[in-house]
Amino acid sequence: MKKITIIGAGRVGESTAQILANQELAHEIMLIDIREGVARGTALDIQESANLFGFDTRVLGDEDPAAMTGSDLIIVTAGLPRKPGMSRSDVLDANLKVVREITDHILRHAPQAMVVMVTNPVDVLTYAVWKQTGWPRQRIFGLSGVLDAARMATFIALETGFSSRDITTLVLGGHGDSMVPMSRYTTVNGIPISHFLSAEQIARIVERTRNGGAEILALKKTSSANDSPAAAVATMVDAVCNDRRRVLPCVAILDGEYGERDLAIGVPVVLAAGGMQRVVELELNEEERRQFAESAAQVREDLAVV
Ligand code: 2OP
Repeated sequence: MKKITIIGAGRVGESTAQILANQELAHEIMLIDIREGVARGTALDIQESANLFGFDTRVLGDEDPAAMTGSDLIIVTAGLPRKPGMSRSDVLDANLKVVREITDHILRHAPQAMVVMVTNPVDVLTYAVWKQTGWPRQRIFGLSGVLDAARMATFIALETGFSSRDITTLVLGGHGDSMVPMSRYTTVNGIPISHFLSAEQIARIVERTRNGGAEILALKKTSSANDSPAAAVATMVDAVCNDRRRVLPCVAILDGEYGERDLAIGVPVVLAAGGMQRVVELELNEEERRQFAESAAQVREDLAVV
């Protein structure tokens, strides 16, 4: 890719820029932040690691949204972070305003780009960007399941003692308390997780996954998670940049899939060059369908303000 812009040089933006640079996923990475000097300083710091990590990506920073001009892909991380005890929906009003302004800039300066939403509440804000741009849904998707599934895999690795690499998980639904960790689709190299863990252990892991972001926020107090969210964003960007056709759970706009329309929520999609190629529709059992519907209802509640 020629150019990737990251809007918001907070912790998630910074960690993402570093990983994308290390992996040389673009010739140029532009960090944009309205706070004077922050994006430029952060970019220079990352650029100065080029010799050590051995990358040739140019990392730049700017306050001016026009610096996104020419971007193939834009990652939106800017917005008000949650404080301990707050839900992702509690920052909706403030972040909707921020994201609307950013979308105006994207429409003006990068009308051909794809957009990866990270700012919370991510399901609602992915929908808001899609509505405001009027672009095809292929070009707008958000971070959720890749991060939530990575967390679930981590908890399973810790509980079983097996290598994290061998664990495949899937999380559907909104990126909030009502997300739907799919233990039925969770395996250790193809072996169902129920072979190794009791129902009680699995229930504990599901609950910890739902609470994964809040657990870190409660510990760090002044900041949400940033390393694993950045790694998850980089996984999605890599799938697009390298046209991998990976099947990854992301926030996508639904158009009849899972019985929902005009809604953005986490579902498995095919990610490749050009963005979200299609939604993978799974046969859900009764309990999964109930949980997914509950999660969709919760996202819809927030959508009312968009
Ligand atoms: C998380 O789950 C930031 O929503 C993000 O940590």
